[in-house]
Amino acid sequence: MKRRTEKKQAGTGRLAGRLCLITGAGGGIGRAAALALAREGATVIASDVDETAAEETAEAIRAASGAGMPVELDVADEASWEGCLAAIAAAHGPLDVLVNNAGVAMGGPLVDMTLDDWRWTMGVNLDGTFLGVKHGIRAMRARGGSIVNVSSVLALVGRPLIGAVAASKAGILALTRTAALECAARKYNIRVNAVLPGGVDTGIFHSQSWWPNLRADRGREADARRDIISDTPFQRLGSPDEIASAILFLASDEASFITGASLAVDGGYSAG
Ligand SMILES: NC(=O)c1ccc[n+]([C@@H]2O[C@H](COP(=O)([O-])OP(=O)(O)OC[C@H]3O[C@@H](n4cnc5c(N)ncnc54)[C@H](O)[C@@H]3O)[C@@H](O)[C@H]2O)c1
Repeated sequence: MKRRTEKKQAGTGRLAGRLCLITGAGGGIGRAAALALAREGATVIASDVDETAAEETAEAIRAASGAGMPVELDVADEASWEGCLAAIAAAHGPLDVLVNNAGVAMGGPLVDMTLDDWRWTMGVNLDGTFLGVKHGIRAMRARGGSIVNVSSVLALVGRPLIGAVAASKAGILALTRTAALECAARKYNIRVNAVLPGGVDTGIFHSQSWWPNLRADRGREADARRDIISDTPFQRLGSPDEIASAILFLASDEASFITGASLAVDGGYSAG
């Protein structure tokens, strides 16, 4: 059977006419999600703290005949959210979908972790998702919509040396459930769900500071990437497109009776 990642399926208009904002859309899973939602007919606002990367994603969407616009957004900064959402509303109208995807990773043993490193991780991953949920609900509550938060299997399964990320991602699950219940109780018609990726082959493995820390802590030239692969029942990393498919599903009307859910997309990692 061919892997779904080998060929980009043509869209069937599942998000035609929808306005979607994706955070951390400058690379990895966020970029794949931006392209997937645009292929399904959405107008996609590709946001990132790295404005150039956001522009590249928007350009890739337009190159594929989609509708994509870049915007600079630091998810950990509330003023940045307020300015960004006001500008989007003025230029494009009401938001239908928000994907809170931006995230960072910080590795190393808890006994050596500085409070600054802990707070940096929490600030982007958990504060950033809280601010997205808060302002996303405000932007969508008049006519409904869908919020998809990108958590991690680390929210479910313990793994050494990645404590700050795991704690932030578990917080995102609690936040997702609370937000789903509050939106339902207030009849906002906003669904709030979480996607939990396992190991996915993105820049997060190569460019951020946690990866060398993991190797150094093991005291050998450990291939931490290979370790994750061997702990994954499918014996491989996921692709950004495979996570994007789950985000697309939860964002779309196909998930119309799903809220407060956590969908693991992890090659079986959390089943063990
Ligand atoms: N790759 C994995 O194995 C994996 C596993 C589980 C969960 N995740 C989660 O998936 C999400 C996407 O990760 P990825 O693997 O694509 O990583 P990535 O590093 O490729 O992309 C993350 C993007 O977030 C942006 N970003 C960082 N800080 C930001 C901020 N303050 N405001 C806005 N944007 C910011 C970066 O510029 C980058 O474009 C993250 O939340 C990550 O925790 C990834």
